[in-house]
Order: sequence, then structure tokens, then C-alpha cells
Amino acid sequence: MTRYSEPKYRTILEAEEGELEALKELSAHDEWKPSFHIHPQYGLLNDPNGLAWFKGKYHVFYQWYPYGAYHGMKHWAHVSSKDLARFERHDTAITPVEDYESHGAYSGASLQVGDELYLYYTGNVKYDAEARDAHQCLAIMDENGEIRKYEHNPLIKSVPEGYTGHVRDPKVFEKEGQYYMLLGAQREDQTGAIIVYDSPDALNWTFLGELSVDIDLAGYMWECPDYFEIDGKDFLIFSPQGIEPEGENYHNVFNTIYVAGTLDIKGLSFQVDEYHELDKGFDFYAPQSFDADGKRLLYGWAGVGEVDFPTDQNKWAHCLTLPRELVRSGNRLLQRPAESLELLKGVTVAQGEVSGSADIELGDEKAWRAKLDTEQISGLKLELFSSDQEQFILTYDQASKKVKVDRSEMKHVTEPQFGTTREVTLSQDLKQLDIIVDHSIAEIFVNDGEAVFTCRVFPLSEHKQLKISADSNAAYEINGMNRGI
Ligand code: FRU
Repeated sequence: MTRYSEPKYRTILEAEEGELEALKELSAHDEWKPSFHIHPQYGLLNDPNGLAWFKGKYHVFYQWYPYGAYHGMKHWAHVSSKDLARFERHDTAITPVEDYESHGAYSGASLQVGDELYLYYTGNVKYDAEARDAHQCLAIMDENGEIRKYEHNPLIKSVPEGYTGHVRDPKVFEKEGQYYMLLGAQREDQTGAIIVYDSPDALNWTFLGELSVDIDLAGYMWECPDYFEIDGKDFLIFSPQGIEPEGENYHNVFNTIYVAGTLDIKGLSFQVDEYHELDKGFDFYAPQSFDADGKRLLYGWAGVGEVDFPTDQNKWAHCLTLPRELVRSGNRLLQRPAESLELLKGVTVAQGEVSGSADIELGDEKAWRAKLDTEQISGLKLELFSSDQEQFILTYDQASKKVKVDRSEMKHVTEPQFGTTREVTLSQDLKQLDIIVDHSIAEIFVNDGEAVFTCRVFPLSEHKQLKISADSNAAYEINGMNRGI
């Protein structure tokens, strides 16, 4: 069959002379580029891929299209860090030059096998604008950081019967001496599912069937499955597409949920105790977790779908979330900013106690972290990026225990068709806020990780304040954050 062709299906190896340098230069001075969130040097970033703590370093790969702020030929880009705070960039890890990945090296996860890191990914092949096939592939990184494609790729050719060409995003793990691969899939009846393969050696794979997950959220496609265990409880994360908003949940174009329960992988079932939306913000999707020294860490894509941003003109888009540590609380996951972020702590900008109101001068500070602690508070309002032209508002109402964020008062509002507010009802009173801002992203952690709002924001460049009004006492500390990438 002939392959689909469009200019955006072009690898980085096909760049014209000077093209990449020009792209680099164009986006280099963009005022909204984060300074410690992983972001593309130019082009578009989406999902985190292949996350690993391997041979003394953290490795983060991500979906990357080099030539502009839209989704095109996807590569795997690569950054690494010794401390999970300061990252260095590496050469492109996976460039889709082979026939089995002719339209992109799509998402996947990694697994250490012996002294090597296996990077599983999906080779995406398009025949026309709609028709596609998917092959599951492997690239291998050795101890020295050299990456090669597996000579017998693809590991899994095409998709099993009963599914469309939308089968992707391998997550591989080992259990009792056997390897398992979970894949996001679309059934032929256009509903979403997770399918399972197993392997004795992480190379030769056999289709086992579909994982039964008894939840009422079909959608038309489930992307990016992730699985892990914390303290004896199993968690499954995936990103269903095509589900409807429901109360405070699922207001973004695509959404991400986690399921707490028990996995019986041989019996192909995940027995569900509870499930919840993972992040309550506007911009979060396709997260992936990994284990580092017994800690379960997670990165998400701080973005979703196809959006227009004011940075598009400078031909770059999106960033990852900060690394978060996942902690279990019954059937819930708490998400906390990784401790490593303390390494980036800069000067103290302001600190004090507020009862009534405080207007804190942030001036030109564009990367900062504000922590707020309170014993008991009945009402709270914060205005971030506040000037006479705009503000981003966070409120808390004790009677309803609702925390709400509102970006309607910003000059640049993205995706207003999906609403300009998000809210969450807490299980207990508000005690703590940890707000981390990096140029064009605010991650707001509530009550030691009970809820997180990931929000992209594009504040105007003039002088800013952080305004706090509280009707009881709250202690605050605000620090600048140093560059991490
Ligand atoms: C999720 C996703 C994945 C796919 C990748 C392609 O955002 O659609 O399912 O592998 O992005 O970039």
C-alpha cells in the first residue's frame, strides 16, 4: 500500500541547511520559555517517554516534532540529570527513518534489562489521512548512553484482530519472571481498551488478550497505559479519549484517570476499587511513572490535544510537568513535587504572615515557588500575575471545601471552549498550598498533594504582584527558582 505523504512527515535528518539553527534562534528568546520545566529547544513536545533511573542518572525522553508548534513527525528527544533538577540535553534518541515507523516514533516506556535500558515505542505508519497501522518497536540504550534500534524490529508487527490501527504506547514491566506489555487500543467498534502481551525475554511477544477493567468510561480510545504498585496496592493510569465532563471531572478535551485496585495479569483482569481524575488543571495528559530507588515518580505532558498558544509564532510549544512523587493514601494517590526541586531554590523574595491582605511584589521574577500554610482558614483568594490588566485567580471556600482556579481574567486565555475555571472539593480543610510558577506554567499542589492543578498561563511581561487575601492567618514564603534546563 502506498504511504501517506504530507510535508510535516519529515525527520530531522531532512532539515535544510541552516533550518535548525534558525528554529533554535527564533525560540531562544521567547519570554514564555520555562527555565526549569523540561521543554523543547524548538518545535513541539508532547508525552514523556522512556522515563528511567538508569546507571546513576535520570533519563527523560519525550515526544518531539522539530519543525513547528504542531503535531508532525514524532521523534524521541532525550535529556538526563544526575539530581532530577538540573538537566542536560542530548542528541535525538529515536529518529523515525525505518519503514516500520514511517510516520513517527510514538510514545512508550522503558525497562532495564541486564545492563541495558530497553526503550519500547510504537512505530506509526499512515496509509492515508485516516488509515494507519502500528508496530511495537525497541531501541536499546547501553551503559554509555549509546542508543541503537533493535535489529529485529518490529517486535510486534501490526495490530491484533479486533482492533483498529490505533494500538500504541507500550508499558513493559516484569512480574514473577515474566515480562508483560500493556498497550492502549481502540476496538473495531470504536471503544477504548488496554491489551496485553507477554514475553519470556522482553523481546519475543505473544498476544494474551484484553485487560478487563470494570469501569464505566469507555471513550473511543485509551492512550498511554501505565501500571505500578505502591505498598501492596496496584494502580493503573491511562488517558481515555472521548469521555464526557462529569461534575468536577474530565473537563479537558482528553483526560487522564488513575484506577486503584488489584491486577491479576495472568487472568487479564484489573479489579477496580476506585478511580479518579489524576490532575484537576487545564493542561495535563499522557503521564508516565517510573521507579527511582523505591520512589514512584511521575511526569505528565503539561498539555493536551491540539491548541493554539501565543508561543506558536516562535515555533515551539509545550513542556512537561515537574517530576512528582506519588504516595499512596488508601485508594488515593497523593502527588508531591519531587524533593529534588529544593535544589533549584533561589533567593527568598518574600515571607510573612497574612491576615487580611498582602500584596507581594514579584516584579520581573518569572520562576518562583510560593508556599502557604494555615491552621484554619475560612476564605482565601490569591491573584497570581496580578497587574491592572490581568490576574489568575485561586479561591478557597471553607463551607464547600472547594478550591477553584480561574484563568478567565488573563489576557491570553487558551482553549476557552473547554471552560476557564476548574475546581476540586477537598476531603478536609485547606491547610497548604505549594504553587510553582515557571514563566508560562503554574502547578498548584493542594494539601500535600491531595489535588494538583496543572495550568499553562501566558502572562503579560509587565510588573507583577501576588495578592493574597485571607480571612484568618496564613504563613507564606516565596522563593525564586533557579534554572534547571
Ligand atoms: C498521546 C499520544 C500517544 C501517541 C503520541 C504521539 O498524547 O497521542 O497516544 O503515542 O501522543 O505523539
